[in-house]
Amino acid sequence: MTGTARTPSLRLTERAHQWLATCLGPGDLALDATAGNGHDTLFLARAVGPAGCVVALDVQQAAVEATTRRLAAFEGPRAPVELRVGDHGDLPRFLGGRRARAAVFNLGYLPGGARPVTTVAERTLEGLRCALGALEDGGLLSVLAYPGHPGGRRETALVVAWCRRQCAAGRAAIVVRDRGPSPDSPRLCILRAVATPMARTLGLSSREA
Ligand SMILES: C[S@@+](CC[C@H](N)C(=O)[O-])C[C@H]1O[C@@H](n2cnc3c(N)ncnc32)[C@H](O)[C@@H]1O
Repeated sequence: MTGTARTPSLRLTERAHQWLATCLGPGDLALDATAGNGHDTLFLARAVGPAGCVVALDVQQAAVEATTRRLAAFEGPRAPVELRVGDHGDLPRFLGGRRARAAVFNLGYLPGGARPVTTVAERTLEGLRCALGALEDGGLLSVLAYPGHPGGRRETALVVAWCRRQCAAGRAAIVVRDRGPSPDSPRLCILRAVATPMARTLGLSSREA
């Protein structure tokens, strides 16, 4: 996240939440693949309610601590959160075969934290692949990418290209493709998981096809 990108990124974060709210309901499982300061984790935990569950990961202990504090400070009804230090490239280990209704990737670095620790394109793509495969048919995958950090421009381009490929292959449908006014503005992509025709014929999920 860059200083210049902060205003549009906030707007895009809110836009992502609005879309996620349309698909999440009580009792759902939601995934936050980059917990950071816990804004997205808390949003998801409120959206799925006490009967739901949120799996939230971050590679940094400091992010897990910040998210823990944010969750503890919230006194309203929310889901239990399985919050772990972990890499979203290893997602299957944390999901343990469960399916999610929505997954959120908010890329870049921890605001207020150690800037050198950013998401890395290859791990991001592996995480996205696993997350899309773990979504229920019709579930949403939201990715907010920031070209402004070191490696961010390449990561953003690869993420956008990956999203296009999923749609071309019929594994997903694009719901939102949004960007700010400059090449360094954040990009928001939201995909809806689609069970493939073969999966539908066999009664399987998109991951099993
Ligand atoms: C922009 S912040 C996330 C903001 C957060 N969602 C929030 O609501 O506050 C990006 C986070 O991704 C984390 N991260 C970087 N690489 C990761 C990886 N491979 N797996 C999981 N988290 C990662 C960083 O440590 C950082 O905290």
